[in-house]
Amino acid sequence: MTALPALGADVFSRTPSALAEALHESGACWIAGWPNAAQVSTLRDDLREVQAAAGLSPAAVGHHKDRHLRSDIRTDSTCWLDDTRCGEPARTFLAQLGDVRTMLNRSLFLGLDAVEAHYAAYPSGGGYARHRDRFHDSDARVVSWVTYLNADDWNQEDGGALRLHLKDVQIDVRPVAGSLCFLSELEHEVLPARRERFSIAAWFRRSADDRRR
Ligand code: OGA
Ligand code: MN
Repeated sequence: MTALPALGADVFSRTPSALAEALHESGACWIAGWPNAAQVSTLRDDLREVQAAAGLSPAAVGHHKDRHLRSDIRTDSTCWLDDTRCGEPARTFLAQLGDVRTMLNRSLFLGLDAVEAHYAAYPSGGGYARHRDRFHDSDARVVSWVTYLNADDWNQEDGGALRLHLKDVQIDVRPVAGSLCFLSELEHEVLPARRERFSIAAWFRRSADDRRR
């Protein structure tokens, strides 16, 4: 694969699921223009309100006893969307991800029984070193999802690409105007941006327990 399969916002009404097919064939898929610009700006405003109320916390790496802050690995601050500090836009989005989960299960029989998601703000110059979203002692996370909440004036020079490391190629995804879905076993990294960078990261999981919080 030299480029990511790209689908449009109609992906949710197509049967059989084009998203499931793309994931099955390529391991990753870009969904252009979803959510739409109006919803993105509502979500970004909500994230900013949580941030202004000091509701974002520095993100940790690892889980359970291995969980610790490592600003040399990742610099984002996060708030889980089911936290009461998040507003209605977060709850609506989480419900939409629940529908995506149902759709993936119908087509791929993955037995995904939960979805978790957080807002993330990366300060200018920050990033997230190359990693997998699966913890070394758990295969609960099966499918990863990232929705970008940056405004349309985000330029190539602003950086902040999500770099996906596939078998023989690297693919850089500009963090704007869409969502990326990929298998959680794939390695990826967030390259430094020269302005603050906003996203929602989500995981479709095989078991509802064993959460990282
Ligand atoms: C993560 C992650 C990617 C992004 O939170 O695990 O890889 O583009 N985020 O925000
Ligand atoms: Mn990740």
